Order: sequence, then structure tokens, then C-alpha cells
Amino acid sequence: MIKKCLFPVAGYGTRFLPATKAMPKEMLPVVNKPLVQYGVEEAIEAGLNDIGMVTGRGKRAIADHFDVMYELEDQISGTSKEEYLTGIREVMGEASFSFTRQVEMRGLGDAILNGRRLIGDEPFGVVLSDDLCIADGEGVMAQMVKLYKQFRCSIVAIQEVPEDQLHKFGVIAGEKIKDGLYQITDMVEKPTAEEAPSNLAIIGRYILTPDIFDIIEDTPPGKNGEVQITDALMTQAKNGCVLAYKFKGKRFDCGSVEGFVDATNYVFNNIYNA
Ligand code: UTP
Repeated sequence: MIKKCLFPVAGYGTRFLPATKAMPKEMLPVVNKPLVQYGVEEAIEAGLNDIGMVTGRGKRAIADHFDVMYELEDQISGTSKEEYLTGIREVMGEASFSFTRQVEMRGLGDAILNGRRLIGDEPFGVVLSDDLCIADGEGVMAQMVKLYKQFRCSIVAIQEVPEDQLHKFGVIAGEKIKDGLYQITDMVEKPTAEEAPSNLAIIGRYILTPDIFDIIEDTPPGKNGEVQITDALMTQAKNGCVLAYKFKGKRFDCGSVEGFVDATNYVFNNIYNA
């Protein structure tokens, strides 16, 4: 029922300069796998095999990563090194990839609107691959797809965040439906501790219904002069229903150096070396 997943990967990644001057931040490897591949694997696990990427200038390496590299592959074909390509070959076999470009980096809402032609008129997932999510059981996107099947409305993933970190997130207020699930009544983008309506912060996983595109078109730039997806979601919440889901698992902010180092240590000790 949901088959498509959008990856907005056009951002500049300024918090990770100089590493991201000529290389997309989504290609930073956590141990030996680029961030964007973790995200795509999570989408495929959730049954979202049509991957749409909203890229920008300087992001060509992302498209190349999900393509064949003939010379390299010919060189290592039949050798023991070929096994290093097994994972990415599986990903390429299971998903199809489409790309479009965001010409001006006008914010996440604008990036999602740029993906409209790739998505069409159906519900879709959104993965911000610089948020690396690792779950013990089923992945975060798979957890959210299950909820979508039940409630059929937009869903954002949330986590509890300490008060002094809330200014980095969109923060929600909501009415509890059941443990870990809220119907959103308010949302504030990057609030001060005083402005924050709760300690529940939106992270980089969404399921969106396609009416969001018209709403984004009518959403003026908000905080920092960017078209904010939170503003569009607030309109959607007022018109109907948007849910906030406290996902099961860990999330690392790999757009920041600290989060990236934490993720690297965690993956190395608990997955790569396990
Ligand atoms: P971020 O604000 O985390 O990404 O946006 P950024 O702008 O690349 O990072 P910094 O702050 O400069 O370090 C969240 C996600 O939205 C995408 C980014 O690529 C990232 O995955 N994004 C953001 C776009 O695709 N386009 C935009 O105009 C803004």
C-alpha cells in the first residue's frame, strides 16, 4: 500500500565542514557503510522499494553509489574481495532509484515538494538519512508503516529530548491515543526551552499523505527563512489528523560530529563486530 520513500539529500551539511565541502554528508560512512545506505535498507525492510532522492549540486556520488561501477567490479570479480559488494548489490537488486534536484536549498518542506513528481498521489515515507535509526527488532520505518495501515494519516517519529536540546528540533504537543502514540495538537519548530510545548521532538522519519504537497505549496517560509515541513504538518493536523509516534530504537544525529562519533562506536561494537 505504501511503496515509495523519499530521501531529501540536498542539504549543505555545514555542521560537518570541511568533510562535506565536496562530498555529500549522506555518503559519510558509519564504519564501512554510507549513511544513505542505512536509510535505504530501512526503507526496503519496510516494503518501500521505490526510492526517490531529492539531490542537489555536488551530490552525484549518491546516485553513483546505487549504480554499477564496472571497472572496479570487473577488477575484483572472482576474488575474495568481491564479497564486500554483496550488501550494496542486494540493495540495488531490491529497490529502484529515481532522482530529482532541488535547485535552491529552501528547506526540508521545499525539498519534499520537489519530490512530488516522483511520488504522485499516494502516501509515502520520508527518511532523513543523517538521522541514523537502529532498532533491535523491526526498523523504525517498518514500525510506522504498520501504524499507517491502522490509522491512514500522516505520522511523524518522535523521541524524548533533554530540555537544553529542544531548540534543534520541531517539538509537538499532543493528546495521547495510547502508549507512545499521540494525536498532534501543536508543533513548534526549533523552540526555546520556554516556547517548547513538551519534550517530544520530531526526528527524521515521516509517513506523509499526498495532500501534504498542496499544503506545502501554500506554506510560506518560516523559521530561518526556510519552508518548514513542521508548518505544513501543523496545517494538516488542524484540517484532520497527524500522529506522533515514539519509535522503538536508537537514533543518532549523524549531521553533528558528536552524534556521528556515537553512531560509529555503537555500530562498530554492536553490529560490525558482534
Ligand atoms: P538539516 O538541516 O539537518 O541538513 O536538514 P543540512 O542543512 O544539510 O545540515 P546543516 O545544518 O547545514 O549541517 C535535514 C535534512 O533535510 C535535507 C538535508 O539534506 C537533511 O537530510 N534538506 C534540508 C534538503 O534536502 N534541502 C534543504 O533545503 C534543506
